[in-house]
Amino acid sequence: MDDNVTVVDHPLIAHKLTLMRRKTASTQKFRSLLREVAHLLTYEITRDLELTTETIETPLEQMQAPVLAGKKLCFVSILRAGNGLLEGMVDLLPSARVGHIGMYRDPKTLEAVEYYCKMPDDLAGRRVIVVDPMLATGNSAIASISHLKTLGATHMKFLCLLAAPEGVSALRAAHPDVPIFTAAIDERLDDHGYICPGLGDAGDRMYGTK
Ligand code: URA
Repeated sequence: MDDNVTVVDHPLIAHKLTLMRRKTASTQKFRSLLREVAHLLTYEITRDLELTTETIETPLEQMQAPVLAGKKLCFVSILRAGNGLLEGMVDLLPSARVGHIGMYRDPKTLEAVEYYCKMPDDLAGRRVIVVDPMLATGNSAIASISHLKTLGATHMKFLCLLAAPEGVSALRAAHPDVPIFTAAIDERLDDHGYICPGLGDAGDRMYGTK
């Protein structure tokens, strides 16, 4: 893998991901684990955020204390499964702007079809993190990022929970300027575009639908 693909390698993430993969995990358990893993992934993907200092008063004395600076953040959730990761991200960065892009996979062609898009209007000035738990064929991520570029986004990262090698290659080829962060890269895609061994349909598992 190249330098622009980061597998966030941490025992807590690996353990929680295993709990999520188990087919016996309840909807409630799956959702709460996803939120926890989102916290841990957000910690890593925001590692390069710029800091400045501010003068503050502690109970003892004045100090120059670090605070976040630089470009403001925008999280973009690819609906609907992206919202599961998004919740954990917003826990850590509650003032980030949030955009939503609706994509579904045509079950025959596996192509991404956009049905909804609502973004803040100043994407060009923001660091954008596009989120979808499953990077499978890569079609939804590629189409979403292409659309965001037409809206002015220039500084983007992509965050997922699980990736297939095919999706990573496709996204790297289409958008080499967009670094990918994931908790794991699985073996392969099956004929229906599911990641194997994977965890099934992330949206169905987090919302209890079928
Ligand atoms: N989307 C999912 O939810 N799961 C997969 O395995 C692939 C795409």
